[in-house]
Amino acid sequence: MVVTKEENVKQTDWEPKIIGFLCKWCSYSAADLAGISRMDYPPNAIFIKVPCSGRVDPTFVLKAFADGADAVFIAGCHLGDCHYIEGNYKAMRRYELLKATLKQMGLDERRFRLEWISSSEAKHLKVFVTEFTEQLKELGPIELPTLAPLAKEEI
Ligand code: FES
Repeated sequence: MVVTKEENVKQTDWEPKIIGFLCKWCSYSAADLAGISRMDYPPNAIFIKVPCSGRVDPTFVLKAFADGADAVFIAGCHLGDCHYIEGNYKAMRRYELLKATLKQMGLDERRFRLEWISSSEAKHLKVFVTEFTEQLKELGPIELPTLAPLAKEEI
């Protein structure tokens, strides 16, 4: 009997696992504010505090996916507000490159996001996490692409 992806999701009560890398100056402070303000949002995201969005090495993202995350996001200060002047510009460039690479590897690009959230934007964080979680529930569990073995003539 073949079990469809939708049936499998229903049977296991699957919930998306999201890893978020949040800049400590803005986005992580927004998460703190959301907590202090007792804002309610889905508990699917695990937040990892980083000094700046520009500190997020592409290997952090790849490791998160390899370790079972269904989605990953990076959140940082708005452009022009980075405490290290241009860390978020660096993050933006890396994000575009990595997103294109992940897409080429067969990963749905909707599973990797970049968001600017300032320390006062707790509501923005709440809405973002809520919508991202809903979108992932529609996408279903991640299916990591398997690399096809190289044909003899490609070696
Ligand atoms: S310090 Fe927040 S993005 Fe650089």
